[in-house]
Parts: sequence; structure tokens; C-alpha cells
Amino acid sequence: MCGIVGYVGNDKTVDVLMGGLKRLEYRGYDSAGIAVLDATGSLNTRKRAGKLAVLTEDLAANPIAPGSTGIGHTRWATHGGPTDRNAHPHLGDEGRLALIHNGIIENFAELRAELIADGFTFESDTDTEIAAVLIGREYRSTGDLTEAFRRVVARLDGAFTLLAMHQDLPGVVIGARRNSPLVIGLGDGENFLGSDVAAFVQYTQRAVAIGQDQMVVITPDDVTVTDFSGNHVVTEPFEIQWDASAADKGGWSSFMAKEISEEPDAVANTIRGRVEGGQVVIPELAGLDELFVDINRIVIIACGTAAYAGTVGTYAIERWAGIPVTVELSHEFRYRDPVIDARTLVISVSQSGETMDTLMAVRFASESGAKTLSICNTQGATIARESDAVVYTHAGPEVAVASTKAFTAQITALYLFGLHLARVRGTQTPEFLASQVEELQAVPDKIASILGASEKIAQLAHWMADSRAVLFLGRHVGYPIALEGALKLKELAYIHAEGFAGGELKHGPIALIEPGQPVFVVVPSPRGSAILHPKVISTIEEIRARGARVIAIAEQGDAAVLPSADEVIPIPLAGPLFEPLLAVIPLHIFAMELATAKGLDVDQPRNLAKSVTVE
Ligand code: F6R
Repeated sequence: MCGIVGYVGNDKTVDVLMGGLKRLEYRGYDSAGIAVLDATGSLNTRKRAGKLAVLTEDLAANPIAPGSTGIGHTRWATHGGPTDRNAHPHLGDEGRLALIHNGIIENFAELRAELIADGFTFESDTDTEIAAVLIGREYRSTGDLTEAFRRVVARLDGAFTLLAMHQDLPGVVIGARRNSPLVIGLGDGENFLGSDVAAFVQYTQRAVAIGQDQMVVITPDDVTVTDFSGNHVVTEPFEIQWDASAADKGGWSSFMAKEISEEPDAVANTIRGRVEGGQVVIPELAGLDELFVDINRIVIIACGTAAYAGTVGTYAIERWAGIPVTVELSHEFRYRDPVIDARTLVISVSQSGETMDTLMAVRFASESGAKTLSICNTQGATIARESDAVVYTHAGPEVAVASTKAFTAQITALYLFGLHLARVRGTQTPEFLASQVEELQAVPDKIASILGASEKIAQLAHWMADSRAVLFLGRHVGYPIALEGALKLKELAYIHAEGFAGGELKHGPIALIEPGQPVFVVVPSPRGSAILHPKVISTIEEIRARGARVIAIAEQGDAAVLPSADEVIPIPLAGPLFEPLLAVIPLHIFAMELATAKGLDVDQPRNLAKSVTVE
């Protein structure tokens, strides 16, 4: 939530800031603003409510003076509505200091009261302005901006990444972070700060992730990282694996369309380099076998779409590695005193690696003595850094707010882990594991064939654009796919949608079925799921008898489904555990097409932000 970018270097500052904000806009799009220190030493700010386009138009009509030091912000509102006044940057030290913030300062009311008693007044309703005014006040008394920053962050509770610059200090941007992300981009005669590497990947491929409770001071030629007590921190730069074009739309109508088209690559790239002689060997887990051999249960924690990927993972890991696996929403897990210990492996699944609910659950798991592994798509992200081990998904940057390619990559990574674990624990024969690896490696081409025949799904979505509610049913691994289909439709098309386990229907939800009610049914393979397949066909008959309009996602050539369903979307043949990676693709396309048919912005649905860094 909220994207931030900082730059020191040369006079392309406005371009760097606006380009960085464009790439970070997925993090929040209620308002945006920049501050630039110009050549005459004046600190100029410009900020506007609305999407970044509003600020872009404003700057085009009335350009801000160029400079070589600047900060920029794109907001997802927490304290204070999305207005010009509440947009960042906020000012301190009587307009000489500009500050931007991602997170929530929990003790802001108490600090605000202190500042009001001290005679300060405020322009906005935000918690951020308190930090700007406090740092300004400390700077007046110390004459040292870094020290002022340090004193103030020591007093803040909650989550924050703060970036500030001062009119007295051209060529300097200072940052600090606790529980919110901040990454440094290392340039030549210029340096960058951003919420993630997308902010500056166009200019440099070298980055450094800043740790918890650390501060950074950047100048064009230097980067200094310290902890909140001022002790020097040794950093480890890493090479960014994404190239700049990966974070661009590349001719597609939306990031979502591009990202759905990249689902085959997301799966293939996640598998790449992790299969040796037909067996899964994950290089990142080399030497860590003892971490997994003694465990007696696995708990997967995640939120939203990542939790549905985690649910799919429970079926496969349990089946292959013969170990109990459960899945839980991170925010529920954290607050219910779960019984976990040194023999529990807690796997977090997170595209951003910054989701606060999941981060807090990972910390809780570590403090409780559990072992932690993260499945993460963002290099250097906090959750990855704080886990005992990490298996990266290689989906590339996901910019559209609703997750698509990260979902299929997350399932792939969980499957790879399940196959790795089964090998290490010796729970399956090498021949069986090799057959599963082969199935997984065949998935990208099968997804590509579904994408190549998506016209019918688009048509269906256009016909259904006026639907008031859509239901989704599935069983076994099809159940989390039904949940994912419903979530995508809710968040993209603002249509009421529910996903149900097929077996649950008779226990209540069947009351929702009335004539014309559209119901998507994920049908398991008649070959692979000989027991479940006829049960799902019976469910289809039951809802059709009550007037439902059934759209079945079923294996190509499934003769039993044809007479029962109103529409059939065929998917290629695959083993039962691999069907979810295929069945979800039509549902991603459907949600995107239906939202498009309603004229909605599929990349930036209302009220949402991609990286939920507040609890
Ligand atoms: C839905 C969606 C969200 C995220 C969830 C977790 O389309 O994108 O439900 O999956 O907010 O985000 P990460 O994976 O970044 O932890």
C-alpha cells in the first residue's frame, strides 16, 4: 500500500519519479505527488487526488522546475480521505522539508496532541504529516537531518517507510523502514530508493534490500545504511532478475491481459533449474534437508489468492510427502494461539513478500520455534529475508492489482517443494516422482493451448456482463479454483460471486439456485478422478433441475459432461493434481473479459491495492 520513490543524481529527477510512480501505481492510486529540489535551492511540491494520470496532466500543463533531488508517492488512503490536501509529500520545518510515507503510524494521535500543545498546526488529516513536523522540529534543534530522523523513528509505533529531503541538503534523500518495504537502486553518479525494484529497474539492475529498523542516506555517489541506533550495517547488493520491459505493458491492452498471457512462462520459469535427472532438486534448499526431515506437520499461511494457491498445495504435498498439511489465512493464524513447535514447518506464500498479515504470521511462527519457508515472487522482500529458507516463484513483475500469473507460479513452487520433500523423505519411488515432474513440465504448453482458444470465454463474458451474481463450484483441488474464480470476479467486475465446495451445496448454498443463475463448475477428469467425477456430474444435474445455467470447465472429450452442461470450456488432459493449473486459466480470462465488457479498469480495481502492507 502506497508506493514510494526517491532519487538523487541529475536533472532527470521528474522523469525518474514519475516513471517510478507509474510502475508502483499498483500499490495505491488514490492520489499522487512529488517534491523536487530545484537548482536555485527551492523545494517544490505538486500533489493531486486521483490516479497518477491526474498528476501527469497537471505537470504537463504546468511543469515543475527541474532538479537533481526528489521524492514521489502514490497513495492508498488510510488516515484521511483521498484529497489533494492529504496527498503526499507532506511538509515540515515551515515548508523546507518534504516527507512521504507508506504504512500507518499507530501512535499518531498522541504525537499530534504533543505537537499541537507545542504550537504546531496541520494542513492535512494524515498520520504522515505528524512525522514531517516532528522531523522538522528535531532538525531545528540538532541541525542534523539524519539525527533528527533517528530520534523521530524511535518514537513511532506501527509500520512505516519514510523518505525525506530538506532544502538545506541538495543531493540527499534519507529513508527509514519498519514493517514496510524499502529497496535501494545502485546507480553510477545517481542512486534510487523505491518500495520495490520496479521503481528503478529501468535505470539499474543492482539493488540492496534494507532490513527491518534500518535507515539509509543516499547521495549521488554514496549509500550509507545504519540501524536505528546509528550502527553501520553491511549490505549485500543483488542483481535484479527482471528486465525493464518485463514491467511494461508491451502492447497489451492491460497489464492483466499481459500477465494472463504470461502464465505459461510463469510456470516454466518457476520450474527451470530445479529438475535434475527427472527429480526435483531445488538449489536454494541445498544443505537444508535437516530443516525438513524432522518436521511432523506443515502449515501454509497466506492471504487471498495466495491462500487459494496454498490450498491447492495442501492436496499435493500431503499426497506426495505423506505429511499432514493445513492451510490458514495469515491474519486468522496469527491471532488464535496456534499450537506449533520446532517440528512444524510454516510455509508462507506471498507474491509481494510484504503482505503485513503474512509477515506478522511468519514472525509469530519463528518466535514460536517453528521452521519457516517462504514462497515469494519479489527478490529481497521482507518475508523472504525473514524466513529460514525461500523458494522464489519466477513469474516476473506482477503489476495488475489482481493476481493471475503469480497464482499459477505459486502452485508450481508448492508442487516443486512437495516433490523435493517427497524425494528427501523417501516417501515415493523415484519413478513415481519422475512421472509427476513430467506432468508438471507439460503444464506450460497446455496453458498456452487454453490461451489460444480463449475467444469463446470472452464471448461468454460479454453475454454475461449483466449478471447480478455468479456461483463457482469445485471439489478436491477444484474447490480452491472455484474460490479463486469467485474472488477474481468480485474484485475485477464488482459482481457478487461465491465459490463453494461441490459437496457442500446440499448443506445450504443450493437455496441460492434459481432459474437462470450462472454457475461455473470445475469438473474433475473422468479418468483421473473416477470417484469424484460422477459425483460432480450429479451435482450439475441437481442444479440444472433447479434452473441453473451451468458452465462446465472439463477435460477435453469428457462425454458425460456434454449433455448436462449449458456450456463446456474444454481443458487439456492432465493428472488430477495438475488440473487446477489449467482450470484456473478460463476463470482468469472470464473475470478480465467481463470487467472489460463493463468498461472497468482491470488493472486497478476500486478500493484495492496490490501490496497490503497494513494489518
Ligand atoms: C487477489 C489478490 C490478493 C493477494 C493477497 C496476497 O487477486 O491479488 O488476494 O493474493 O493480497 O498478496 P501477496 O501474495 O502479495 O501476499
